[in-house]
Amino acid sequence: MQGDAIVTHLEEAVRGGMKFQNLLEKAVELIHECDENFHWTGIYELYPDGMLRLGPFIGAPTDHVFIGVGEGVCGTAVKEEKNQNIPDVMAIENYLACSTQTRSELVVLIRDEKMIYAQVDLDSHIVDAFAGDVEGEVQKVADFLAKQYRARASQKRAA
Ligand code: SME
Repeated sequence: MQGDAIVTHLEEAVRGGMKFQNLLEKAVELIHECDENFHWTGIYELYPDGMLRLGPFIGAPTDHVFIGVGEGVCGTAVKEEKNQNIPDVMAIENYLACSTQTRSELVVLIRDEKMIYAQVDLDSHIVDAFAGDVEGEVQKVADFLAKQYRARASQKRAA
């Protein structure tokens, strides 16, 4: 996948006045379309109460709309402040099953030096779907989105 191309697309959308929520939806869509083995793609946002809440997603509906810090792969990423690339979800204990078909999962944090805003979560039905440069390419999109979260937070403070 080409993270730079997605960022260019999203930058154009911002210049065209796209609203923040629509931008998140667009980012999910563009990442999801990169590979037919990306079976579920979504964004979880980290709220001040310390819970992750499901934002836009593509794929099967999940019961895991709220995830606490430290819970599952998503909550572990926040607790450890570290992306999670799980080649085989059956090999780990603290996995929260979104679909019984999921075999591998990638969580990339949307963060800057100040804070974690959210995360991109990808699930695949095949083992080790996120090997190679996938994490780095998703990170480019996540870093772009972190700048948008930061800008939105500054605008809210100024309002
Ligand atoms: N598998 C995740 C839960 C989210 S669903 O995959 C969409 C986890 O273990 O945190």
